[in-house]
Amino acid sequence: MATNITWHEGSVSLEERQGLLKQKGFTIWFTGLSASGKSTLATALEQTLLHSGINAYRLDGDNIRFGLNKNLGFGPDDRTENIRRISEVAKLFADSTVIAITAFISPYKADRDSARELHQAANIPFIEVFADAPLDVVEERDPKGLYRKAKAGEIKEFTGISAPYEAPEQAEIHIKTHEVSVELGVQKILDYLVKTKLVDDKMLVKKIPSP
Ligand SMILES: Nc1ncnc2c1ncn2[C@@H]1O[C@H](COP(=O)(O)OP(=O)(O)O)[C@@H](O)[C@H]1O
Ligand SMILES: [Mg+2]
Repeated sequence: MATNITWHEGSVSLEERQGLLKQKGFTIWFTGLSASGKSTLATALEQTLLHSGINAYRLDGDNIRFGLNKNLGFGPDDRTENIRRISEVAKLFADSTVIAITAFISPYKADRDSARELHQAANIPFIEVFADAPLDVVEERDPKGLYRKAKAGEIKEFTGISAPYEAPEQAEIHIKTHEVSVELGVQKILDYLVKTKLVDDKMLVKKIPSP
């Protein structure tokens, strides 16, 4: 624990920053089993927002474990610390007026609730998105071959196989990725953001330009 530290207030308030940069930050928090579609949806959402001139930045579980969280494993304590750090980082991005999009399994409800409370205390909206697909579907997808390895005992503490996943009960957005396309999934999120006035409908490009 750090001691002898004092918060140093800035000279620009959150509201003034938002006004100057003409954007409000918030966090879109994806949760779901491995291969449920978090990264796929997060990437497509980020692309749509950026092409609309809205600053968004994706924090992806695997990528973050290459750097900031490379000293963490997959045991319960390290998973909690993984999510605690990302909650703080997402909050910082959102506080700076960026739309933070996180794509982490985040299997424990208590950890996701802590992330939400952290945002609420800072007056920053937090939108939980449940990327949901049944275990047999994600095992069949298995884009990285991880379920196969986990079932063979080659990966320990794998969510859904040998570690728990606590599904959200009141996520703001629930996307059944085995029932809707990626495009429809993204549209569902955009509809929510427009409805809650977090994003202005007039800003959104309706079609992502082809590369
Ligand atoms: N409707 C859908 N939404 C998201 N992903 C889908 C959908 N349908 C099929 N997929 C596929 O499921 C896999 C999801 O992988 P990924 O996005 O890496 O999952 P996660 O980040 O949750 O581990 C990808 O291969 C993707 O193409
Ligand atoms: Mg992913």
